[in-house]
Amino acid sequence: MRVHVADHPLITHKLTVLRDKNTPSPTFRALAEELVTLLAYEATRGVRTTEVTIQTPVAETTGLAISDPKPLVVPILRAGLGMLEGMVKLVPTAEVGFLGMVRNEETLQPDIYAERLPDDLSNRQCFVLDPMLATGGSLIAAIDYLFDRGAVDVTAVCLLGAPEGLAAVEKATEGREVTIVLGALDEKLNEVGYIVPGLGDAGDRLYGTV
Ligand code: PRP
Ligand code: URA
Repeated sequence: MRVHVADHPLITHKLTVLRDKNTPSPTFRALAEELVTLLAYEATRGVRTTEVTIQTPVAETTGLAISDPKPLVVPILRAGLGMLEGMVKLVPTAEVGFLGMVRNEETLQPDIYAERLPDDLSNRQCFVLDPMLATGGSLIAAIDYLFDRGAVDVTAVCLLGAPEGLAAVEKATEGREVTIVLGALDEKLNEVGYIVPGLGDAGDRLYGTV
């Protein structure tokens, strides 16, 4: 598994505002989108491309085009939806599939409650969006789901991660082509499975309490 933790003052600045409990939802949503666009730059470093020949006004030259099949972006509902626009802004030709998952707050086990994805993901590069990698249970279930459908590699973009969750994902995905791109790697999980210092409940802060 490849892990990239962002190290850029603009990202840290935006994350600091995001973490602040006094930051209201509209600002939180705007920042989540901006952060994903910045992280997507690194996350797409391995996107598959094909050489193409084009004609500039001056000469013929070769360049790169994103290969077919196009990358598939998979936001994990609910909170991952807040990252979708920021991602497709950078990769507008990507296709989008949806996975709805909720973590049982007693057992911390994930449950898939909705799915709208192509049946066959053979040869597909997938980009999973979920702001929080806490115990890693949700991300492991999402990655398993995509590989079971034939995906060849999966990159997850998360705003914050906990060391415990990162280790769990690494163990569960051994031998698979998985990359994790994080805005920051936080200190730990607390006794109820929340990231510390974290930012609280990402879904609630984006869309309100359910
Ligand atoms: C949050 C978050 C992740 C999951 C992370 O979703 O968006 O999907 O928890 O926790 P884990 O790493 O321990 O699995 P939540 O279940 O709160 O649903 P929501 O997005 O609908 O708020
Ligand atoms: N889900 C969240 O939204 N926040 C956490 O800190 C952990 C899981």
